[in-house]
Amino acid sequence: MRAGSGAGRRNDRFTERGETSDRAESLRQEEYLQRAAQEVADLEQEIGRRPTCCVTTFGCQMNARDSEKLLGILRRAGYAISESEDADFVIYNTCTVRDNADQRVFGRLGRLSHYKKSNPHMKIAVCGCMTQEQGNVDRLRKSYPYVDLIFGTHNLFRFPEYLYRCLRGEKRMVELWEGTGRIVETLPVERRYPYKSGVNITFGCDNFCTYCIVPYVRGRERSRSSEEILEEVRRLAADGVTEVMLLGQNVNSYGHDLPGELSFPELCRRVCAVEGIRRVRFMTPHPKDFSDELLEVIREEPKMARHIHLPMQSGSTEILRRMNRRYTKEQYLALAEKIRTRLPDVAMTTDIIVGFPGETPADVEDTLDVIRRVCFDNAYTFIYSPRRGTPAASMEPVPEAQIHESFGQVLAQVQACARERCSRLAGQVLEGLVEELNTQEAGYVTARLSNNTLVHLPGDASMIGQYHRIRLDEDHGFYYFGQIVTEQESNG
Ligand code: 5AD
Ligand code: SF4
Repeated sequence: MRAGSGAGRRNDRFTERGETSDRAESLRQEEYLQRAAQEVADLEQEIGRRPTCCVTTFGCQMNARDSEKLLGILRRAGYAISESEDADFVIYNTCTVRDNADQRVFGRLGRLSHYKKSNPHMKIAVCGCMTQEQGNVDRLRKSYPYVDLIFGTHNLFRFPEYLYRCLRGEKRMVELWEGTGRIVETLPVERRYPYKSGVNITFGCDNFCTYCIVPYVRGRERSRSSEEILEEVRRLAADGVTEVMLLGQNVNSYGHDLPGELSFPELCRRVCAVEGIRRVRFMTPHPKDFSDELLEVIREEPKMARHIHLPMQSGSTEILRRMNRRYTKEQYLALAEKIRTRLPDVAMTTDIIVGFPGETPADVEDTLDVIRRVCFDNAYTFIYSPRRGTPAASMEPVPEAQIHESFGQVLAQVQACARERCSRLAGQVLEGLVEELNTQEAGYVTARLSNNTLVHLPGDASMIGQYHRIRLDEDHGFYYFGQIVTEQESNG
Protein backbone atom coordinates (compact mmCIF):
# COMPACT_ATOMS: atom_id res chain seq x y z
CA MET A 1 0.00 0.00 0.00
CA ARG A 2 1.40 3.37 -0.94
CA ALA A 3 -1.23 5.83 0.08
CA GLY A 4 -4.42 5.85 2.05
CA SER A 5 -6.60 7.78 4.40
CA GLY A 6 -3.91 7.55 7.04
CA ALA A 7 -6.42 7.00 9.85
CA GLY A 8 -4.90 5.21 12.80
CA ARG A 9 -1.51 4.91 11.17
CA ARG A 10 1.53 5.59 13.33
CA ASN A 11 3.48 7.34 10.64
CA ASP A 12 1.88 9.16 7.72
CA ARG A 13 4.76 8.69 5.37
CA PHE A 14 5.51 6.22 2.61
CA THR A 15 8.34 5.88 0.18
CA GLU A 16 6.88 5.41 -3.24
CA ARG A 17 8.32 2.37 -4.94
CA GLY A 18 7.69 3.17 -8.60
CA GLU A 19 5.28 0.32 -9.20
CA THR A 20 3.88 2.02 -12.26
CA SER A 21 5.80 3.90 -14.93
CA ASP A 22 5.61 7.69 -15.07
CA ARG A 23 3.62 7.41 -18.30
CA ALA A 24 1.10 4.95 -16.82
CA GLU A 25 0.81 7.16 -13.75
CA SER A 26 0.01 10.23 -15.80
CA LEU A 27 -2.68 8.32 -17.71
CA ARG A 28 -4.12 7.17 -14.41
CA GLN A 29 -4.27 10.75 -13.16
CA GLU A 30 -5.89 11.86 -16.44
CA GLU A 31 -8.63 9.35 -15.75
CA TYR A 32 -9.12 10.66 -12.23
CA LEU A 33 -9.29 14.16 -13.62
CA GLN A 34 -12.17 13.16 -15.89
CA ARG A 35 -13.96 11.55 -12.98
CA ALA A 36 -13.37 14.63 -10.84
CA ALA A 37 -14.82 16.75 -13.66
CA GLN A 38 -18.00 14.69 -13.50
CA GLU A 39 -18.21 15.30 -9.75
CA VAL A 40 -17.73 19.05 -10.26
CA ALA A 41 -20.44 19.05 -12.94
CA ASP A 42 -22.80 17.29 -10.50
CA LEU A 43 -21.94 19.83 -7.82
CA GLU A 44 -22.69 22.65 -10.24
CA GLN A 45 -26.14 21.16 -10.86
CA GLU A 46 -26.73 20.88 -7.15
CA ILE A 47 -25.70 24.39 -6.15
CA GLY A 48 -26.95 26.10 -9.30
CA ARG A 49 -23.70 27.96 -10.07
CA ARG A 50 -20.19 27.13 -11.20
CA PRO A 51 -18.09 25.99 -8.23
CA THR A 52 -15.09 28.20 -7.47
CA CYS A 53 -11.55 27.39 -6.34
CA CYS A 54 -8.73 29.40 -4.81
CA VAL A 55 -5.07 28.43 -4.33
CA THR A 56 -3.05 30.54 -1.90
CA THR A 57 0.71 30.27 -2.26
CA PHE A 58 3.21 30.78 0.54
CA GLY A 59 6.94 30.81 -0.11
CA CYS A 60 9.20 30.49 -3.10
CA GLN A 61 9.07 30.36 -6.90
CA MET A 62 8.93 26.55 -6.80
CA ASN A 63 5.74 26.76 -4.78
CA ALA A 64 4.33 29.37 -7.13
CA ARG A 65 4.95 26.96 -9.99
CA ASP A 66 3.32 24.08 -8.06
CA SER A 67 0.28 26.30 -7.47
CA GLU A 68 -0.02 26.83 -11.22
CA LYS A 69 -0.19 23.05 -11.57
CA LEU A 70 -2.87 22.76 -8.88
CA LEU A 71 -4.91 25.52 -10.52
CA GLY A 72 -4.49 23.86 -13.92
CA ILE A 73 -6.00 20.66 -12.53
CA LEU A 74 -8.84 22.48 -10.75
CA ARG A 75 -9.67 24.52 -13.84
CA ARG A 76 -9.74 21.36 -16.01
CA ALA A 77 -11.99 19.71 -13.43
CA GLY A 78 -14.45 22.54 -14.05
CA TYR A 79 -13.84 25.05 -11.25
CA ALA A 80 -13.86 28.79 -11.88
CA ILE A 81 -10.71 30.35 -10.46
CA SER A 82 -11.30 32.94 -7.75
CA GLU A 83 -8.97 35.25 -5.83
CA SER A 84 -11.21 34.97 -2.77
CA GLU A 85 -10.73 32.27 -0.15
CA ASP A 86 -14.50 32.16 0.28
CA ALA A 87 -14.48 29.50 -2.48
CA ASP A 88 -15.72 25.92 -2.86
CA PHE A 89 -12.24 24.37 -3.01
CA VAL A 90 -9.43 26.16 -1.21
CA ILE A 91 -5.82 25.00 -1.15
CA TYR A 92 -3.04 26.42 1.00
CA ASN A 93 0.25 25.60 -0.70
CA THR A 94 2.59 26.10 2.23
CA CYS A 95 6.23 26.91 2.95
CA THR A 96 8.20 25.90 6.01
CA VAL A 97 11.56 27.50 5.40
CA ARG A 98 11.11 29.80 8.40
CA ASP A 99 8.81 29.47 11.39
CA ASN A 100 6.82 32.63 10.63
CA ALA A 101 5.68 30.99 7.36
CA ASP A 102 4.18 28.09 9.39
CA GLN A 103 2.52 30.45 11.84
CA ARG A 104 0.91 32.48 9.04
CA VAL A 105 -0.70 29.33 7.65
CA PHE A 106 -2.08 28.22 11.01
CA GLY A 107 -3.37 31.73 11.62
CA ARG A 108 -5.14 31.96 8.27
CA LEU A 109 -6.64 28.49 8.50
CA GLY A 110 -8.73 29.74 11.41
CA ARG A 111 -10.47 32.21 9.09
CA LEU A 112 -11.31 29.46 6.59
CA SER A 113 -13.34 27.63 9.22
CA HIS A 114 -15.82 30.55 9.23
CA TYR A 115 -16.30 30.29 5.49
CA LYS A 116 -16.80 26.57 5.79
CA LYS A 117 -19.55 26.99 8.35
CA SER A 118 -21.59 28.99 5.84
CA ASN A 119 -20.76 26.78 2.84
CA PRO A 120 -21.35 23.06 3.44
CA HIS A 121 -19.81 22.21 0.02
CA MET A 122 -16.52 23.85 0.81
CA LYS A 123 -13.39 21.65 0.79
CA ILE A 124 -10.09 22.71 2.33
CA ALA A 125 -6.72 21.24 1.39
CA VAL A 126 -3.25 21.93 2.77
CA CYS A 127 -0.17 20.89 0.79
CA GLY A 128 3.44 21.96 0.27
CA CYS A 129 6.55 21.88 2.40
CA MET A 130 4.85 22.30 5.79
CA THR A 131 3.00 19.03 5.42
CA GLN A 132 6.25 17.10 4.98
CA GLU A 133 6.91 17.67 8.69
CA GLN A 134 5.19 15.30 11.07
CA GLY A 135 4.82 17.92 13.82
CA ASN A 136 2.76 20.15 11.52
CA VAL A 137 0.62 17.25 10.34
CA ASP A 138 -0.11 16.24 13.93
CA ARG A 139 -1.16 19.79 14.72
CA LEU A 140 -3.38 19.97 11.61
CA ARG A 141 -5.02 16.65 12.50
CA LYS A 142 -5.63 17.66 16.09
CA SER A 143 -6.61 21.30 15.93
CA TYR A 144 -7.95 21.78 12.40
CA PRO A 145 -10.56 19.03 11.96
CA TYR A 146 -12.21 20.91 9.09
CA VAL A 147 -9.21 20.39 6.78
CA ASP A 148 -10.37 17.74 4.29
CA LEU A 149 -7.12 16.89 2.54
CA ILE A 150 -3.45 17.05 3.44
CA PHE A 151 -0.86 16.06 0.85
CA GLY A 152 2.86 16.55 0.39
CA THR A 153 5.37 17.79 -2.15
CA HIS A 154 6.38 14.37 -3.53
CA ASN A 155 2.91 13.30 -4.61
CA LEU A 156 1.48 16.54 -5.95
CA PHE A 157 1.04 14.84 -9.32
CA ARG A 158 -1.58 12.62 -7.68
CA PHE A 159 -3.78 15.61 -6.92
CA PRO A 160 -6.44 14.61 -9.52
CA GLU A 161 -6.95 11.36 -7.61
CA TYR A 162 -7.10 13.12 -4.23
CA LEU A 163 -9.47 15.72 -5.63
CA TYR A 164 -11.79 13.02 -6.92
CA ARG A 165 -11.81 11.11 -3.64
CA CYS A 166 -12.34 14.30 -1.69
CA LEU A 167 -15.30 15.25 -3.89
CA ARG A 168 -16.71 11.77 -3.37
CA GLY A 169 -16.87 12.61 0.31
CA GLU A 170 -13.78 10.89 1.71
CA LYS A 171 -12.98 12.58 5.02
CA ARG A 172 -9.68 13.76 6.48
CA MET A 173 -7.41 12.36 3.79
CA VAL A 174 -3.71 12.47 4.71
CA GLU A 175 -1.52 11.55 1.77
CA LEU A 176 2.18 11.92 2.41
CA TRP A 177 5.22 10.29 0.89
CA GLU A 178 8.69 10.15 2.30
CA GLY A 179 10.24 10.71 -1.13
CA THR A 180 9.91 9.82 -4.76
CA GLY A 181 12.05 9.05 -7.77
CA ARG A 182 9.22 10.23 -9.95
CA ILE A 183 8.90 13.33 -12.04
CA VAL A 184 5.43 13.48 -13.55
CA GLU A 185 5.05 16.79 -15.32
CA THR A 186 2.29 16.12 -17.81
CA LEU A 187 -0.74 17.46 -15.98
CA PRO A 188 -2.42 20.72 -17.00
CA VAL A 189 -0.98 24.01 -15.75
CA GLU A 190 -2.81 27.30 -15.25
CA ARG A 191 -0.17 29.96 -15.80
CA ARG A 192 -0.51 33.06 -13.71
CA TYR A 193 1.10 35.22 -16.39
CA PRO A 194 0.55 34.62 -20.11
CA TYR A 195 4.00 35.96 -21.07
CA LYS A 196 6.32 34.39 -18.47
CA SER A 197 6.66 31.08 -16.73
CA GLY A 198 8.81 29.09 -14.36
CA VAL A 199 10.19 25.78 -15.61
CA ASN A 200 11.35 23.20 -13.09
CA ILE A 201 14.74 21.77 -13.95
CA THR A 202 15.65 20.09 -10.65
CA PHE A 203 13.65 19.06 -7.61
CA GLY A 204 15.01 18.72 -4.07
CA CYS A 205 18.42 19.59 -2.67
CA ASP A 206 21.48 17.61 -1.57
CA ASN A 207 23.42 20.41 0.08
CA PHE A 208 22.23 20.16 3.66
CA CYS A 209 23.04 23.67 4.79
CA THR A 210 22.75 23.23 8.54
CA TYR A 211 19.91 25.76 9.01
CA CYS A 212 17.79 24.55 6.12
CA ILE A 213 14.76 22.30 6.15
CA VAL A 214 14.49 22.04 2.35
CA PRO A 215 16.52 18.82 1.85
CA TYR A 216 14.24 17.12 4.40
CA VAL A 217 10.94 18.30 2.95
CA ARG A 218 11.79 18.37 -0.75
CA GLY A 219 14.00 15.30 -0.76
CA ARG A 220 17.14 14.38 -2.72
CA GLU A 221 18.05 16.30 -5.82
CA ARG A 222 16.53 14.99 -9.05
CA SER A 223 17.01 16.55 -12.48
CA ARG A 224 14.50 16.46 -15.28
CA SER A 225 15.86 15.35 -18.65
CA SER A 226 16.92 18.26 -20.86
CA GLU A 227 14.75 16.88 -23.64
CA GLU A 228 11.66 17.21 -21.46
CA ILE A 229 12.68 20.68 -20.27
CA LEU A 230 13.27 21.91 -23.81
CA GLU A 231 10.02 20.40 -24.96
CA GLU A 232 8.20 22.28 -22.20
CA VAL A 233 9.98 25.53 -23.13
CA ARG A 234 9.01 25.06 -26.79
CA ARG A 235 5.39 24.46 -25.79
CA LEU A 236 5.41 27.55 -23.59
CA ALA A 237 6.94 29.65 -26.37
CA ALA A 238 4.30 28.42 -28.81
CA ASP A 239 1.72 29.52 -26.26
CA GLY A 240 3.06 33.08 -26.08
CA VAL A 241 5.62 32.86 -23.27
CA THR A 242 8.70 34.96 -23.96
CA GLU A 243 10.43 34.82 -20.55
CA VAL A 244 11.27 31.65 -18.67
CA MET A 245 12.80 31.14 -15.26
CA LEU A 246 14.67 27.86 -14.81
CA LEU A 247 13.88 26.68 -11.30
CA GLY A 248 15.79 24.50 -8.86
CA GLN A 249 17.21 24.68 -5.34
CA ASN A 250 20.72 24.50 -6.77
CA VAL A 251 20.49 24.98 -10.52
CA ASN A 252 24.25 24.71 -11.15
CA SER A 253 24.28 21.08 -10.16
CA TYR A 254 21.68 20.37 -12.86
CA GLY A 255 22.24 17.00 -14.54
CA HIS A 256 24.78 15.63 -12.02
CA ASP A 257 22.38 12.76 -11.30
CA LEU A 258 21.81 11.96 -15.00
CA PRO A 259 24.87 10.51 -16.73
CA GLY A 260 25.56 12.12 -20.11
CA GLU A 261 23.06 14.94 -19.48
CA LEU A 262 23.78 18.56 -20.51
CA SER A 263 25.49 20.81 -17.99
CA PHE A 264 23.50 23.77 -16.64
CA PRO A 265 25.31 26.32 -18.88
CA GLU A 266 24.66 24.11 -21.93
CA LEU A 267 21.02 23.83 -20.94
CA CYS A 268 20.83 27.64 -20.73
CA ARG A 269 22.23 27.96 -24.26
CA ARG A 270 19.67 25.51 -25.60
CA VAL A 271 16.82 27.29 -23.84
CA CYS A 272 18.01 30.63 -25.28
CA ALA A 273 17.92 29.04 -28.75
CA VAL A 274 14.22 28.22 -28.52
CA GLU A 275 12.35 30.40 -30.98
CA GLY A 276 10.14 32.99 -29.30
CA ILE A 277 12.08 33.02 -26.02
CA ARG A 278 13.52 36.47 -25.34
CA ARG A 279 14.66 36.24 -21.71
CA VAL A 280 16.03 33.42 -19.61
CA ARG A 281 16.34 33.71 -15.83
CA PHE A 282 17.38 31.12 -13.29
CA MET A 283 16.86 30.65 -9.55
CA THR A 284 18.81 29.65 -7.48
CA PRO A 285 22.52 29.04 -8.05
CA HIS A 286 24.85 27.99 -5.22
CA PRO A 287 28.10 29.97 -5.05
CA LYS A 288 30.17 26.81 -4.57
CA ASP A 289 29.10 25.45 -7.97
CA PHE A 290 29.03 28.65 -10.03
CA SER A 291 31.24 27.92 -13.04
CA ASP A 292 33.19 30.16 -15.43
CA GLU A 293 31.28 28.44 -18.19
CA LEU A 294 28.03 29.87 -16.81
CA LEU A 295 29.59 33.34 -16.69
CA GLU A 296 30.58 32.91 -20.33
CA VAL A 297 27.05 31.94 -21.33
CA ILE A 298 25.64 35.01 -19.57
CA ARG A 299 28.30 37.20 -21.22
CA GLU A 300 27.69 35.83 -24.70
CA GLU A 301 23.96 35.27 -24.70
CA PRO A 302 21.97 38.51 -24.73
CA LYS A 303 18.84 36.54 -23.84
CA MET A 304 20.30 35.54 -20.49
CA ALA A 305 18.87 37.97 -17.91
CA ARG A 306 21.27 40.62 -16.63
CA HIS A 307 20.64 39.45 -13.08
CA ILE A 308 22.26 36.87 -10.83
CA HIS A 309 20.79 36.01 -7.45
CA LEU A 310 23.70 34.53 -5.53
CA PRO A 311 22.77 33.64 -1.92
CA MET A 312 25.64 34.55 0.40
CA GLN A 313 23.94 33.82 3.79
CA SER A 314 26.87 35.24 5.76
CA GLY A 315 30.12 37.07 5.11
CA SER A 316 31.97 35.29 7.93
CA THR A 317 34.06 32.27 7.01
CA GLU A 318 33.47 30.73 10.43
CA ILE A 319 29.68 31.10 10.20
CA LEU A 320 29.73 29.81 6.62
CA ARG A 321 31.62 26.75 7.86
CA ARG A 322 29.02 26.16 10.56
CA MET A 323 26.29 26.62 7.97
CA ASN A 324 27.99 23.97 5.78
CA ARG A 325 27.99 26.36 2.83
CA ARG A 326 31.35 25.06 1.59
CA TYR A 327 32.88 28.41 0.60
CA THR A 328 34.78 31.08 2.49
CA LYS A 329 34.32 34.83 2.63
CA GLU A 330 37.27 35.20 0.24
CA GLN A 331 35.89 32.68 -2.23
CA TYR A 332 32.49 34.38 -2.27
CA LEU A 333 34.13 37.78 -2.75
CA ALA A 334 36.34 36.46 -5.56
CA LEU A 335 33.29 35.08 -7.39
CA ALA A 336 31.25 38.24 -6.86
CA GLU A 337 34.14 40.42 -8.02
CA LYS A 338 34.58 38.22 -11.11
CA ILE A 339 30.90 38.70 -11.91
CA ARG A 340 31.17 42.46 -11.41
CA THR A 341 34.25 42.69 -13.68
CA ARG A 342 33.21 40.33 -16.45
CA LEU A 343 29.53 41.23 -16.45
CA PRO A 344 29.38 44.91 -15.49
CA ASP A 345 25.74 45.28 -16.56
CA VAL A 346 24.55 42.35 -14.43
CA ALA A 347 22.67 43.10 -11.20
CA MET A 348 23.63 40.95 -8.23
CA THR A 349 21.22 40.17 -5.43
CA THR A 350 21.61 37.89 -2.44
CA ASP A 351 20.07 36.24 0.63
CA ILE A 352 21.50 36.93 4.09
CA ILE A 353 20.69 35.22 7.37
CA VAL A 354 21.26 37.24 10.54
CA GLY A 355 21.51 35.64 13.98
CA PHE A 356 22.77 32.19 13.01
CA PRO A 357 23.92 30.36 16.19
CA GLY A 358 27.31 31.58 17.38
CA GLU A 359 27.26 34.77 15.26
CA THR A 360 29.30 37.51 16.95
CA PRO A 361 29.45 41.24 16.17
CA ALA A 362 32.75 40.51 14.40
CA ASP A 363 30.97 38.00 12.13
CA VAL A 364 28.33 40.62 11.33
CA GLU A 365 31.16 43.04 10.51
CA ASP A 366 32.36 40.51 7.91
CA THR A 367 28.87 40.36 6.42
CA LEU A 368 28.72 44.17 6.27
CA ASP A 369 32.16 44.20 4.66
CA VAL A 370 31.05 41.86 1.84
CA ILE A 371 27.85 43.85 1.29
CA ARG A 372 29.89 47.05 0.96
CA ARG A 373 32.50 45.50 -1.31
CA VAL A 374 30.08 43.72 -3.66
CA CYS A 375 27.49 46.50 -3.34
CA PHE A 376 24.52 44.22 -3.97
CA ASP A 377 21.70 45.56 -6.09
CA ASN A 378 19.35 44.14 -3.49
CA ALA A 379 19.25 41.53 -0.73
CA TYR A 380 16.68 39.56 1.19
CA THR A 381 17.67 39.65 4.84
CA PHE A 382 16.23 37.01 7.15
CA ILE A 383 16.44 36.47 10.89
CA TYR A 384 17.64 32.93 11.56
CA SER A 385 14.74 30.63 12.38
CA PRO A 386 15.53 27.27 14.00
CA ARG A 387 13.97 24.38 12.08
CA ARG A 388 13.31 21.16 13.92
CA GLY A 389 15.58 18.29 12.87
CA THR A 390 18.26 20.48 11.27
CA PRO A 391 21.77 20.46 12.80
CA ALA A 392 21.71 24.21 13.59
CA ALA A 393 18.53 23.85 15.67
CA SER A 394 20.58 22.31 18.48
CA MET A 395 23.27 24.99 18.43
CA GLU A 396 23.46 27.81 21.00
CA PRO A 397 21.14 30.72 20.00
CA VAL A 398 22.28 34.34 19.74
CA PRO A 399 20.65 36.75 22.25
CA GLU A 400 17.62 38.48 20.69
CA ALA A 401 18.80 42.01 21.36
CA GLN A 402 22.02 41.30 19.51
CA ILE A 403 20.12 39.81 16.55
CA HIS A 404 17.95 42.89 16.26
CA GLU A 405 20.88 45.23 16.35
CA SER A 406 22.73 43.20 13.69
CA PHE A 407 19.62 42.98 11.56
CA GLY A 408 19.26 46.77 11.60
CA GLN A 409 22.89 47.25 10.60
CA VAL A 410 22.69 44.74 7.76
CA LEU A 411 19.42 46.15 6.46
CA ALA A 412 20.76 49.73 6.48
CA GLN A 413 23.86 48.68 4.54
CA VAL A 414 21.82 46.65 2.04
CA GLN A 415 19.51 49.60 1.42
CA ALA A 416 22.37 52.07 0.98
CA CYS A 417 23.97 49.79 -1.64
CA ALA A 418 20.66 49.11 -3.40
CA ARG A 419 20.04 52.87 -3.74
CA GLU A 420 23.54 53.47 -5.00
CA ARG A 421 23.27 50.69 -7.62
CA CYS A 422 19.80 51.80 -8.69
CA SER A 423 20.96 55.41 -9.18
CA ARG A 424 23.58 54.28 -11.70
CA LEU A 425 20.83 53.43 -14.16
CA ALA A 426 19.44 56.99 -14.37
CA GLY A 427 18.97 58.21 -17.94
CA GLN A 428 19.74 54.83 -19.55
CA VAL A 429 17.47 53.33 -22.18
CA LEU A 430 16.81 49.64 -21.48
CA GLU A 431 14.37 47.02 -22.63
CA GLY A 432 11.48 46.31 -20.26
CA LEU A 433 8.79 43.66 -20.36
CA VAL A 434 5.46 45.17 -19.32
CA GLU A 435 4.08 42.89 -16.61
CA GLU A 436 0.99 44.49 -15.16
CA LEU A 437 -1.11 47.55 -14.55
CA ASN A 438 0.33 49.73 -11.83
CA THR A 439 -1.91 49.35 -8.82
CA GLN A 440 -0.85 52.68 -7.25
CA GLU A 441 -1.06 55.05 -10.23
CA ALA A 442 -3.96 54.99 -12.67
CA GLY A 443 -2.80 55.17 -16.29
CA TYR A 444 0.53 53.52 -15.55
CA VAL A 445 1.95 50.04 -16.15
CA THR A 446 4.92 48.32 -14.54
CA ALA A 447 7.72 46.81 -16.59
CA ARG A 448 10.63 44.65 -15.49
CA LEU A 449 14.08 45.20 -16.95
CA SER A 450 16.36 42.29 -17.74
CA ASN A 451 18.35 43.22 -14.61
CA ASN A 452 15.14 42.81 -12.56
CA THR A 453 14.62 46.54 -11.86
CA LEU A 454 11.01 47.69 -12.01
CA VAL A 455 10.00 50.76 -14.03
CA HIS A 456 6.60 52.43 -13.99
CA LEU A 457 5.55 54.10 -17.22
CA PRO A 458 2.42 55.57 -18.76
CA GLY A 459 0.39 52.84 -20.43
CA ASP A 460 -2.62 50.56 -20.42
CA ALA A 461 -3.57 46.89 -20.25
CA SER A 462 -3.04 46.37 -23.97
CA MET A 463 0.72 46.69 -23.37
CA ILE A 464 0.96 43.76 -20.96
CA GLY A 465 3.39 41.16 -22.30
CA GLN A 466 5.08 43.59 -24.70
CA TYR A 467 8.75 44.61 -24.73
CA HIS A 468 9.57 48.31 -24.99
CA ARG A 469 12.70 50.41 -24.90
CA ILE A 470 12.28 52.57 -21.84
CA ARG A 471 14.23 55.62 -20.70
CA LEU A 472 14.79 55.62 -16.96
CA ASP A 473 13.89 59.18 -15.98
CA GLU A 474 13.11 59.34 -12.28
CA ASP A 475 15.08 57.35 -9.74
CA HIS A 476 12.93 56.41 -6.73
CA GLY A 477 15.69 54.55 -4.88
CA PHE A 478 14.62 51.01 -5.71
CA TYR A 479 12.59 51.54 -8.88
CA TYR A 480 12.12 54.08 -11.67
CA PHE A 481 9.54 56.10 -13.48
CA GLY A 482 10.26 56.12 -17.21
CA GLN A 483 9.01 56.66 -20.75
CA ILE A 484 8.97 54.59 -23.90
CA VAL A 485 11.51 56.07 -26.31
CA THR A 486 11.34 54.06 -29.48
CA GLU A 487 8.60 52.49 -31.49
CA GLN A 488 6.95 49.53 -29.87
CA GLU A 489 8.85 46.36 -30.60
CA SER A 490 6.79 43.45 -31.69
CA ASN A 491 6.63 40.36 -29.58
CA GLY A 492 7.45 37.73 -32.09
N1 5AD B 1 16.18 30.69 8.89
C1 5AD B 1 16.26 31.86 8.21
N2 5AD B 1 16.40 31.94 6.88
C2 5AD B 1 16.46 30.77 6.19
N3 5AD B 1 16.59 30.53 4.88
C3 5AD B 1 16.58 29.19 4.69
N4 5AD B 1 16.44 28.56 5.87
C4 5AD B 1 16.37 29.53 6.83
C5 5AD B 1 16.23 29.51 8.24
N5 5AD B 1 16.15 28.37 8.91
C6 5AD B 1 16.76 31.57 3.87
C7 5AD B 1 18.10 31.45 3.15
C8 5AD B 1 17.69 30.97 1.78
C9 5AD B 1 16.33 31.60 1.63
C10 5AD B 1 15.47 30.98 0.58
O1 5AD B 1 15.74 31.45 2.89
O2 5AD B 1 18.68 32.73 3.07
O3 5AD B 1 18.60 31.37 0.77
FE1 SF4 C 1 18.56 24.94 1.68
FE2 SF4 C 1 21.20 25.13 1.24
FE3 SF4 C 1 19.66 23.52 -0.34
FE4 SF4 C 1 19.42 26.20 -0.53
S1 SF4 C 1 21.29 25.00 -1.01
S2 SF4 C 1 17.75 24.71 -0.41
S3 SF4 C 1 19.77 26.87 1.58
S4 SF4 C 1 20.08 23.27 1.85
